Amino acid sequence: MELNRNKITTILEKEGFIDEPIPKEINIVEEIKRLKKEKNAIILGHYYIEAELQDISDFVGDSLALAQEAARTKADIIVFVGVHFMAETAKIINPGKKVILPDLKAGCSLAESAPIEEFRKFKAKYPGHKVISYINCTADMKTETDIVCTSSNAVKIVESFPKDAKLIFGPDKNLGNYINSLTGRNMVLWDGACMVHEQYSVEKIATLMEEYPDAEVIAHPECEKPVLLLAKFIGSTAQLLNYVQKSEKDKFIVATESGILHQMKKACPKKTFIPAPSIDSTCGCNDCTYMKLNSMRKLYLCLKNEIPEVTLSDEVIEKARKPIERMLEIS
Ligand code: 13P
Ligand code: SF4
Repeated sequence: MELNRNKITTILEKEGFIDEPIPKEINIVEEIKRLKKEKNAIILGHYYIEAELQDISDFVGDSLALAQEAARTKADIIVFVGVHFMAETAKIINPGKKVILPDLKAGCSLAESAPIEEFRKFKAKYPGHKVISYINCTADMKTETDIVCTSSNAVKIVESFPKDAKLIFGPDKNLGNYINSLTGRNMVLWDGACMVHEQYSVEKIATLMEEYPDAEVIAHPECEKPVLLLAKFIGSTAQLLNYVQKSEKDKFIVATESGILHQMKKACPKKTFIPAPSIDSTCGCNDCTYMKLNSMRKLYLCLKNEIPEVTLSDEVIEKARKPIERMLEIS
């Protein structure tokens, strides 16, 4: 899957679609708005993309809200400004619509951690188990899945199975461990992790906590356990955003990708948000390099040329749709 995407990107580069010069007189923001209207397109953006891309999106949300919005849109074209598995999910829900994304190389370390052949072998070792897959996985993995979940609804989805059900959870072991601890389950976990969330430094967060004793640590469940232990609140991006708005506190150390800070600052301009530092970073924040592949220039070109497009076989769409629909029914 990844190789194919890289190959397609190379072809597009050769054909001049990616380096296509944009005349200076063009106002990209206005052109995006015009093209969107002309083509009856909707721009869906995740909280981790750059602020200007969030601001031009018709809808910004977490993975669950974006899938729900993709399910209800009447637009002819969905422009997904996020990462590939999100655009794939939108395509699976809307096989008749054109789904495009600004950069085909915008992958996800979690999705890439579970190549389908290896996952099939893993699944075969646990006969009689149902598979719950975190939405951050490939369409191929979704075809091997009983029900999909996101970090917003994972507890609810897991609890929809009887207490003694045999369950496999993947690809995120950190989210899986966290859900096991909340639900008392013992799901078998695939050994994958998010390259952004596994990088937070407990030591550096602890130092920040000393520096700002009145700040609360909030974290995404993709973080490793030691970071989660420091957190006052754990939740999906949308849940973290909701928490800071409702909380009486006015200072937060935020252990998730720094793009979410844009919406937090917009919603609570008087509150302070400190990005949790990672082990290696010198900049004090953590960016998802995949999410940050999106840019205004690429968004404009993708809307103008209607490429790159997400394409999937009918067989994959049919098989992958069921576990997504089950999730949407329960959510
Ligand atoms: P949510 O926005 O669903 O919390 O997911 C975070 C994430 O890592 C998306 O890739
Ligand atoms: Fe994937 Fe992590 Fe980036 Fe989310 S932040 S898209 S889980 S690599």
